[in-house]
Order: sequence, then structure tokens, then C-alpha cells
Amino acid sequence: MSETERTFVMVKPDGVQRGLIGKIISRFEERGLKLVGAKFIQIDQDLAEDHYGEHEDKPFFDDLVEFITADPVMAMVWEGQDATRQVRSMVGETDPAESPPGSIRGDFGLDLGRNVIHASDHEDPGANEREIDLFFDEDELVEWERVDETWLY
Ligand code: PPS
Repeated sequence: MSETERTFVMVKPDGVQRGLIGKIISRFEERGLKLVGAKFIQIDQDLAEDHYGEHEDKPFFDDLVEFITADPVMAMVWEGQDATRQVRSMVGETDPAESPPGSIRGDFGLDLGRNVIHASDHEDPGANEREIDLFFDEDELVEWERVDETWLY
């Protein structure tokens, strides 16, 4: 059995505007992941620049920061076995055109920048914990057990 871990997920402003929060949460619940933190917030400039800091030299950086701060986002922490990798496989590729049908971006996205959802990179060790720490205080994360959790998951 893989190790249980937490990962960071954010429905981006385009996903919020299009009313996709509920559908996206349902997908993670149905997969068997457990929600342990959630907040509906508007990201400020500083948080956006911290979160996407590794891309500051990229040509799309200013557009990305402008987009992510333009409207609210739904920031969440999901827990489960190998959660970062599991969530990334459900999200699809950065470019929705390369995301298979059945993935979140493959079903709901068209545009490379407005690609509905962000999820921690499973190929960047520690990215999940860094992003969770950036968006959530420890006391905003909830420890809870689902009925039959040890048997089901
Ligand atoms: S890279 O270059 O491979 O490191 O970048 P990548 O991981 O593909 O993308 C990093 C985030 O930047 C967003 N992105 C863009 N936004 C606006 N315009 C363009 N052209 C663009 N290209 C990439 C991309 O959606 C990633 O956001 P997150 O939230 O991490 O998925």
C-alpha cells in the first residue's frame, strides 16, 4: 500500500467563473481522496508571486499572475494514498489539448493558460508540502476519519 500524503489543489478563476467547483470536488471524492482543508479566497499579488516564483523568468509569468489574482480561487488540500501523483493523473497535462478525455483538463479545458485547475507537481519533491504551507495554516487543516476508512482505503 502506498503512503498516505496530502496534496494541494486549486480551482483557478476560470474554473470558479464557469461553476466547476462542485464537479471537481466530486471527482476527488469519488476517487476516494479525503478533503482536509478548503478555502475560497482571492489571491493577492504577493501570494501569486510566491506560489509561481519558479516561473518568474518565463514569458507568461505576468499574465499568469494577473490571471490568478483576477478573481477568486478554491484552494484545497486532499489526502490519500500517493495523493500528489493520483491527483496529477486526474488533472491531465498543462496543455488541455494534450490531456486525455476523462481528465479534468481534458474534459473542461481548452486553453493553456486558462486550464481550470492547479495541482502540486509530483515530479517536484516537496512541492505539495510547500504549497500547502503557503496557502494554509496548520490549524486550518482538519484531521478526521471516514467510517470504515481503514478497510476501504
Ligand atoms: S514549465 O515551463 O513547463 O515549467 O511550465 P508549466 O509547468 O507548463 O506551467 C507552469 C504554470 O504556468 C501556466 N502556463 C501559462 N499560463 C499562461 N500562459 C501561458 N502561455 C502558460 N504556459 C504555462 C501553467 O498553466 C502552469 O500553471 P499551474 O497552475 O502550475 O498548472
